[in-house]
Amino acid sequence: MYQKLMTCLESVRKKTDFKPEIGVILGSGLGDYADEITVEAAMNYTEIEGFPVSTVAGHKGRFVFGYAGEIPVVIMQGRVHYYEGYPMSDVVLPTRLMGMLGARKILLTNAAGGVNENFKPGDFMMITDHITTGIPSPLIGSNIDELGVRFPDMSEVYSKRLQEVIRNAAVTCGIGLQEGVYVQLTGPNYETPAEIRMCRMWGGDAVGMSTACEAMAARHMGLEVCGISCITNLAAGVSDKKLDHKEVQDTADRVSAEFKRLVTEVIVNM
Ligand code: HPA
Repeated sequence: MYQKLMTCLESVRKKTDFKPEIGVILGSGLGDYADEITVEAAMNYTEIEGFPVSTVAGHKGRFVFGYAGEIPVVIMQGRVHYYEGYPMSDVVLPTRLMGMLGARKILLTNAAGGVNENFKPGDFMMITDHITTGIPSPLIGSNIDELGVRFPDMSEVYSKRLQEVIRNAAVTCGIGLQEGVYVQLTGPNYETPAEIRMCRMWGGDAVGMSTACEAMAARHMGLEVCGISCITNLAAGVSDKKLDHKEVQDTADRVSAEFKRLVTEVIVNM
């Protein structure tokens, strides 16, 4: 796996020597944030040797290198999901690659279903912690000693310092902010109402099909992590409504201007 990562790294380095400070992963429907930055270089995932290539509609699939304000960032426009059939080690490869490219801090974003009954579609939720009981750990298999230790601590996956940065950014932008625990399940099907009740009993506030595995891989290699979910819909059984990807996309579109302002304010203060 480390060899594969090094091959990807060399492949990127042939194209650009840009050194990002911050890595950003853009979730479903949130991909056009990449238009906000001053682009220095971009690379389609298909151009990177050995890189797992995303298949979901609405996920563009490229790294964008550039400046958000003065801050050098690498943005993943489109991520790799476990439900696409890749092993977890491939799902978190791009996250690890961002770390190897130089990013020491990482902002994860996603579209998620609202499990907490006080949430409504269009809310933003700062991730305070996560539950990954429903997925295999991305760290299963021989440990990559070059990246981190065999048994990494997960007691503060989402940095308290960066949580404070996000709270302040939301106030500065005049944008409401929920906080809560993100539960990652495999997808690609949406959950059943019983599964959502289970998530709630576990202590979850939002549910999705990404992010927590990336956060784990990032912590494994010592990156400072934070995350924001866009609550695009009420999770199954919270309302009578059936779930579909169009609602997820429509809500993400509706709040995208606010989302972009919030993300920029977070990045420049990270
Ligand atoms: N469940 C899982 N993933 C999601 C959801 C959901 O309700 N909404 C957006 N991503």
